[in-house]
Amino acid sequence: MTETLTGWAATTKDKPLVQMELPLAQWNEYSVDMNITHCGMCGSDIHTIDEGWGPTAFPCVVGHEIVGVVTRIGDKVTNIKVGDRGGVGPECYSCQKCPTCLEGYQNGCERGYTGTYNGKLPNGDKTYGGYADKWRGDSRWVFKVPDSMSSEDAACFFCAGVTTYAPLKKFNVNEKSIVGVLGIGGLGHFGVLFAKAMGATVVGMSHNDNKKEISKQLGCDDFINTHNESDLARYRKKLTHILCTGTSNDFQWGTFFNLLHVNGNFMNVAAPEWNFPELSPLQLLMSQISISGTAAGPPDIMQEMINFAAEKGLKPWITTYKMSDVNNAISDFRAGKPRFRFVLEN
Ligand SMILES: NC(=O)c1ccc[n+]([C@@H]2O[C@H](COP(=O)([O-])OP(=O)(O)OC[C@H]3O[C@@H](n4cnc5c(N)ncnc54)[C@H](OP(=O)(O)O)[C@@H]3O)[C@@H](O)[C@H]2O)c1
Ligand SMILES: [Zn+2]
Ligand SMILES: [Zn+2]
Repeated sequence: MTETLTGWAATTKDKPLVQMELPLAQWNEYSVDMNITHCGMCGSDIHTIDEGWGPTAFPCVVGHEIVGVVTRIGDKVTNIKVGDRGGVGPECYSCQKCPTCLEGYQNGCERGYTGTYNGKLPNGDKTYGGYADKWRGDSRWVFKVPDSMSSEDAACFFCAGVTTYAPLKKFNVNEKSIVGVLGIGGLGHFGVLFAKAMGATVVGMSHNDNKKEISKQLGCDDFINTHNESDLARYRKKLTHILCTGTSNDFQWGTFFNLLHVNGNFMNVAAPEWNFPELSPLQLLMSQISISGTAAGPPDIMQEMINFAAEKGLKPWITTYKMSDVNNAISDFRAGKPRFRFVLEN
């Protein structure tokens, strides 16, 4: 008999999600089963439902900021036990044999990692995400939720948290850094929390003035409206880092290069449905900055990030919705209402 989950599935891009029974992945010695208690709502969930990045394999249950209670583990599982609270992010499997995996960068797996939803495991099973009652997957991508953190607070660390922590850490953000966080949404607000916790001066950067006050409440030391020339002029060549989590589609490289100090870093984590504009080699070399990209984070960084967040007592700004209210939560997300993350609760 096939074991099943009950999830809120997208069946086509233009319809509300519907509740549906779907097969759990085949059990193996590394498997973990969890009863999902919480799942954050990420911008990537919406891109996938909308097929904004390309075709989606419907039916698709999105959600990759999952926290649940472990109900069963395979014989080879050592990192988590029945009754523990586990967290899962956007990546749930990689080959573990290629040089990149062996170096600890499983999120850059040379054979491609398996996404927590809209993905395929090596045996061909489809992956289903956290807008559901149950999750089954590989223990090596399940992380223990620190005791000091509530499950609802923990959930969105597993994507939005790690995606912002990883580049800030990689590019050595510290007390001397002046970090611009571009886009104060779900990811952006974690960018602010983590950069502050690393000791940096943080400048919130938004596409209009709507979040000017709230970004200061969040902890930003200052604010730039990216469509306000005098705000931009004030920070000319002042920032050591820009963490790009979202922009409007009139994005121009020059606007942001002008804000970065020599040897600065433009760290992109946003994945909009449009391309960045052309960048001339001359513009790049004259700017003397580095451009990078990050896809969530590998297992080691995931555990490090959640431990760091617990140690620093970081608290995300979230609003909870009942899982059964998921379609209303999606409408509110599309309307730009999160301040700053929505979490679905079973
Ligand atoms: N690299 C990764 O591994 C990874 C992981 C998770 C998500 N992502 C991607 O990162 C992006 C952000 O995700 P999120 O969950 O943080 O989404 P979100 O909460 O919707 O935040 C996106 C932000 O983009 C900004 N923005 C600028 N111009 C906009 C416009 N014209 N319309 C709407 N928003 C605009 C907004 O901030 P302001 O109002 O402050 O301008 C908005 O809050 C998505 O593309 C998502 O797919 C990437
Ligand atoms: Zn995500
Ligand atoms: Zn690999």
